[in-house]
Amino acid sequence: MNIKNFENFKQFVAKHGSKRCIIRCDLNLPSDIEDLSRVYAIKDTILSVADMGLQVVLISHYKRPKPDDINNPKFSLAQIVPSVSKVLGKDIAFEKRSAFDIEPSDVTAPITLMENLRFYEGETKNDDAFAAHLAKFGDIYINDAFSVSHRAHASVCAITKHLPSFAGLSMMREIDGLTKATEDIKRPYTAIIGGAKVSTKIDVLKKLSLDADYLVVAGAMANTFLASQGHDMKKSLIEPEQFETAREIIANAKAEIILPSDFLVSPNVETDGVQCNLTDIPDDCGCFDIGAKSTTRIIEIIDKSHTLLWNGTLGLFECANFQYSSKIVSKHVAERTHSSGLISITGGGETIASLGNYKPDMTFVSTAGGAFLEYIAGYQLPGVNVLSN
Ligand code: 3PG
Repeated sequence: MNIKNFENFKQFVAKHGSKRCIIRCDLNLPSDIEDLSRVYAIKDTILSVADMGLQVVLISHYKRPKPDDINNPKFSLAQIVPSVSKVLGKDIAFEKRSAFDIEPSDVTAPITLMENLRFYEGETKNDDAFAAHLAKFGDIYINDAFSVSHRAHASVCAITKHLPSFAGLSMMREIDGLTKATEDIKRPYTAIIGGAKVSTKIDVLKKLSLDADYLVVAGAMANTFLASQGHDMKKSLIEPEQFETAREIIANAKAEIILPSDFLVSPNVETDGVQCNLTDIPDDCGCFDIGAKSTTRIIEIIDKSHTLLWNGTLGLFECANFQYSSKIVSKHVAERTHSSGLISITGGGETIASLGNYKPDMTFVSTAGGAFLEYIAGYQLPGVNVLSN
């Protein structure tokens, strides 16, 4: 993809002597703030810019505050500062005053994090006046937040009209990584899509059912697919309103669609699951993970594949007793990536958590959730488009 990248940034700085760089990052970390992948992802961009002698102004959103949440510490980026500082090994100043109450000259530290952009209504409206105000805090701009680039927001899109704008190193890695599953794909190409709801992944399921050679549908969304084919999933989570979509995907698919044929079933999530075939689910039970036969089938398909895209866990991973299949498949993907050059591309918060210690073994792990799905579904991301040459 032809976008203004970090090399172009360096050339621009050398030529024009830029002094202060605004870096749009995505510090919208999970609520427990334990997964610091998004902070590690932006580390080299921030440190490189700082090493070049530029002052750095970090901007990010955090969660989805409502207008009256402005003084609610739950939505303040202040709580992220220690994590960023630890990962970067640098002091990070925090500017909690509103960007409208301070002058750019008030921001003096080598690296400063500004308060949550979503405290300003202009941010989500892609408001040009707000973007122009934000732009005053720098003389050059980097977007290193692929994971929010599906949002046409002021700090992602409108700001690029006011400053010379470039993609950061993390942004470039995300595009390069995901492109392996969208262009010049090495086949056979398998996609595993799990997670709870078909409704959140319709577009990506449709696209992959046409583009992939094998599409494995797992997680609770497999219940909806199976129920749409007439199977009684008993107490399992299903979305009847998605039956038509599921039938349409199956009917039009060019990929071979693989649905589970056995499960770990249980009356509730607190009780350990028992192995059970699709046709034998007890009346009082739901399916919370896929079973041993289905897991083996997925492994066989991975063994035939050259490229694997994986988003969404195979079972209810947040419950320790339903992590069985996701853990086995993670281990296998890691091994195949090393032993036979499988190109393994994964993404999404839950999926990353399910990889555990195998995360570094993947070819590419995206830090994005919604943006990952939109990119794979074939959409142009507005925040990426505005950086094109
Ligand atoms: C994400 O976590 O996917 C990004 O930070 C975007 O957040 P949003 O869905 O609240 O826009």
